[in-house]
Amino acid sequence: MVPILAPGPAGPAATGTAPGVNVTTPWEARFAQRIHGMTSSIIRELLKLTEAPDVISFAGGLPASSLLPRNEIGEAVRRIVESPSEGAFQYGVTEGYLPLRELFVRHMARYGIRVGPENVLVTSGSQQALDLIARLFINPGDRILTEEPTYLGAIQAFSAQQGDFLPVPTDDDGLRIEPLEEKVRAGPKFLYVLPNFQNPGGTTLSLARRRRLIELANHYGTPIVEDDPYGQLRYEGEHIPPLVTLDAEFHGCASGERAFTGNVIYLSTLSKTLAPGLRIGWVVAPRSIVQKLVQIKQAADLHTSTFCQHVAHEVARDGFLDRHVKRLRAVYGVRRDAMLEALARHFPPGTRWTRPQGGLFLWASAPKGIDTAELLKDALAEKVAFVPGAAFFPEGGGGESMRLNFSYAPPEVIEEGIRRLGLVLSRALKG
Ligand SMILES: Cc1ncc(COP(=O)(O)O)c(C=O)c1O
Repeated sequence: MVPILAPGPAGPAATGTAPGVNVTTPWEARFAQRIHGMTSSIIRELLKLTEAPDVISFAGGLPASSLLPRNEIGEAVRRIVESPSEGAFQYGVTEGYLPLRELFVRHMARYGIRVGPENVLVTSGSQQALDLIARLFINPGDRILTEEPTYLGAIQAFSAQQGDFLPVPTDDDGLRIEPLEEKVRAGPKFLYVLPNFQNPGGTTLSLARRRRLIELANHYGTPIVEDDPYGQLRYEGEHIPPLVTLDAEFHGCASGERAFTGNVIYLSTLSKTLAPGLRIGWVVAPRSIVQKLVQIKQAADLHTSTFCQHVAHEVARDGFLDRHVKRLRAVYGVRRDAMLEALARHFPPGTRWTRPQGGLFLWASAPKGIDTAELLKDALAEKVAFVPGAAFFPEGGGGESMRLNFSYAPPEVIEEGIRRLGLVLSRALKG
């Protein structure tokens, strides 16, 4: 028998002295080529430190602990366990539990998205949807047009398939149209856009820009992936139709009478409106695309946990989801205001921040010369944390900015955390 640490035919010699301690196993030399591009960044290492219990963390995208629907989930689990049906405990279809898909269809119709259950695939969170989409569409070197900055999890999912990025600068109204047009002409594989309360920027794409984006995408034949985890969490202003609806209007299938088709794949999730631990998200796409995603998902996990799908359905039916979203809006609106007021009080002159109309994040920028990855080390010493902006720039940049979450901490903790961060920033600016 070959000892486990012996040099293998395809790899370098093992270098370790004791098993499990700094050794190179025969596995490393056999990594697939695409794995070599996957590195652990300094920022991700630093972010681990933000999870210490005594740190006021504005880093995660977590719902407020007090608003997790523990009782409702507990009741739902009890009903499921006591029910004679065994559906929640058995394998299920890859597309997802039909009553849950139907619930999503009804739920989305209230936000103007008219599709049938055959257009919906339940995923293990939206993150899995991004991964499945990346696997379905991205060849090595394909360029994906994104906002700059954009969601870190999407950068990871697209990079894992060796995609490249065509980032488009944003302003307070989201994607800027002129650079967008120029980059769409460069022929990206698809556009990845977060029109509502963007992660990380907190910006909302205006209706005029949404319409222009749909025109441009259809003109150049470029499909769009619309990621919308936060759309229902609006604290001011009017709901703006999602891209998937505007595109369906463009293609004449917005009434729901004709089969849903068109240029947009839409993603959403229960992570921000119920609980991220359930890991329930969904994709809306034309039927042919759902079928392909189903094949890829089968290879990944057969299906999303039937138990969690049944729990989500049991909790969300009978209008609970809508009632809960109303409560979230009320609480998070207050927390957003608390953060905006604390920023005005404590951040030094020269810093700027966005004023999100909804969602969980705002985006603050320090004057040039400040490196927020460095600043995070000082902030952690003061027991306060954020995500440095560079993490959200696929092609580099953003070093002077930071993402701040306002949903997790209560207002008095937000005030104290921003006070500490203001001190750290003022010190850095003087230094
Ligand atoms: C823009 C965006 N997309 C996708 C996700 C992933 O969410 P989920 O928990 O549903 O996987 C997140 C989570 O923060 C997000 O902000």
